Amino acid sequence: MSERKILVTSALPYANGPIHLGHLVEYIQTDIWVRYQKQRGVRCYYVCADDTHGTPIMLRADKEGITPEALIAKVWAQHNADFNEFGVAFDHYHSTHSEENKVFSSLIYTRLRDAGHISSRTITQAYDPIKEMFLPDRFIKGDCPKCGAHDQYGDSCEVCGATYSPTELKNAVSAISGEKPIEKDSEHYFFKLADFTDLLKDWISAGHLQSEVSNKLKEWLEGGLHDWDISRDAPYFGFEIPDAPGKYFYVWLDAPIGYMASFKYLCDQQGIDFNEFWSKDSDAELYHFIGKDIIYFHALFWPAMLHGAHLRMPTAIFAHGFLTVNGEKMSKSRGTFITARTYLEHLNPEYLRYYFAAKLSAGVDDIDLNFDDFSQRVNADLVGKVVNIASRCSGFITKRFAGMLSSDCADPALFAEFIAPCERIAGHYESREFGKAMREIMALADKANQYIDEQKPWLLAKEAGKEQLLQAVCSLGINLFRVLMAYLKPVVPLMVTTAEDFLQSGELPWVTDLQPLLAHKINDFIPLMTRVESDKIAAIVEASKATLEKTSTATLAVTAAPIPAQDKQSSEIAEIIDFESFAKIDLRLGEIINAEAVEGSDKLLKLTINIGAETRTIFSGIKTAYAPEDLIGRLTLVIVNLAPRKMRFGVSEGMVLAAGPGGKDIWLLSPDAGAYAGLRVS
Ligand code: MSP
Ligand code: ZN
Repeated sequence: MSERKILVTSALPYANGPIHLGHLVEYIQTDIWVRYQKQRGVRCYYVCADDTHGTPIMLRADKEGITPEALIAKVWAQHNADFNEFGVAFDHYHSTHSEENKVFSSLIYTRLRDAGHISSRTITQAYDPIKEMFLPDRFIKGDCPKCGAHDQYGDSCEVCGATYSPTELKNAVSAISGEKPIEKDSEHYFFKLADFTDLLKDWISAGHLQSEVSNKLKEWLEGGLHDWDISRDAPYFGFEIPDAPGKYFYVWLDAPIGYMASFKYLCDQQGIDFNEFWSKDSDAELYHFIGKDIIYFHALFWPAMLHGAHLRMPTAIFAHGFLTVNGEKMSKSRGTFITARTYLEHLNPEYLRYYFAAKLSAGVDDIDLNFDDFSQRVNADLVGKVVNIASRCSGFITKRFAGMLSSDCADPALFAEFIAPCERIAGHYESREFGKAMREIMALADKANQYIDEQKPWLLAKEAGKEQLLQAVCSLGINLFRVLMAYLKPVVPLMVTTAEDFLQSGELPWVTDLQPLLAHKINDFIPLMTRVESDKIAAIVEASKATLEKTSTATLAVTAAPIPAQDKQSSEIAEIIDFESFAKIDLRLGEIINAEAVEGSDKLLKLTINIGAETRTIFSGIKTAYAPEDLIGRLTLVIVNLAPRKMRFGVSEGMVLAAGPGGKDIWLLSPDAGAYAGLRVS
């Protein structure tokens, strides 16, 4: 059998926005896997690129008054800087707007066309007569055909969740010019995916996909495969289709080809044989790490395109779930839509690498970044367990033994216990069960700390005649620490580089053949990592809200209607609203799980309310009627989609509904809590 050779990719981020913590799940996951392979000595390349084509990028450049080329150059530099600081070490980071990509896109397209897999026909689409361009669904807005909600996109309604085609939208307008779109014909090119039905049926069940993914795809395949529209009309930022002037490849056609383009550039730089990795009979492994939202493109279109163009297909597609923050979708208004840059301004990137590693598995489940859990885990594991071992032992070695480790291993059996699980831990890395790997490594860290606790070097240091034992105990502590560093190297590479400098034994290879350092001189210890400070997290959330204020353009925030004055017990009815406006209110049953008085306010109580999927902090003016302790455990109606409101005492994330004239007479819904919390009221 020949030596393994591996090419790995992460999905190409769009070049019209910053890298955020959601993206980083993927790039950190892939980077850990690649670093692990390299540490084992496997020949492994990791490439990626910016995904630069398409209408949104063209329009964004327009808006900024620059060319698309200038926009993508600017974003490319930002993305690179972000990845770099998070330790995501691509062998090459390219752009889909590159010569290599143009060549491969044409090549693949013409091969598909010449083999009869491309058809063309005329279709009718919405067209902006002012901007003189066809409108993608996302650029048409109007009233939902189901519920009538205003200002909905051309493909789905954010209020009622209906999906439809843009022609069904009522009172449709172009989101670009505001003009009513007209219908216009144009010829489009299609990739005949159905030609590959049998191939794909076999491929998706042949072990290239996670079982959840292949089951989902089998369902899709049962519905039959449809032609895929791969062309767009000018004006479009992309590559013109060969022999079809004015027609461009749809961004998703050339995006995955960008994997090849990026690798080709690397090959040319380093003299790697490109065909060894991409030819039909290649024995190299090819892995694509992606998010679960883009499975369709990678597990159906892409393998079919490759096969149809006489190229190799992927060895496997590794899909991961989505990142939620504190249990919910990242949200700009909550300050949980956190960019890589904002994070980097406040916290050590390796905290996040470790936290994601601890949470990641081989499945497609979403992963949650919970800030309390994050601080607690990083502080307890990395700082409290791992770094602590070195800091407990190194002082004695430096001060009492001039940095020299003892010439005998104090407990070879214990050292051997640290090496023994190395193949199992390797297996966890290999199979992307990083959480399992972290748990095993932390169990070893516990064992090392236990050894030090038992040996009590701080007592040995005071006893006469225990010099040699003291040196032996601390030396073993440092040797155990060194094994842990080798295990953790794929996850926290920067910290391990510092540790390598401290240990003075070169770059740490994978654990397999590691021997204890004996009669070896080490450097003075430098603290490797400090604790996560909670005010830094608060600062990130605040800064993320601030970015929102600066950048938000068309966010549709539901704002509070003016509240009628309390004392105006009028029979007048406020402004009549139509049903559509009412339907926008997301009303839920919430359980009050905590209530406390607010210092400095005689009306307000600070409530913590469980609305099912999450808890909210809401300030409510019901103190005159309720003692805080009487509220805990009760149900109330909550408006959950009211824009958060910054008050003098904090941010209120919604509104509690109550009725009554005021004073002592304010009534909440019901005294029974429990299973109803989170129920949507309809
Ligand atoms: N440009 C396409 C990919 C083309 S690949 C040939 C794209 N770009 S993206 O910027 O939207 O996303 C890049 C990757 O980040 C995708 O794999 C996507 O699933 C992942 N994520 C984006 N947001 C994410 C989360 N909130 N959580 C986890 N992964 C997320 O799709
Ligand atoms: Zn609707």
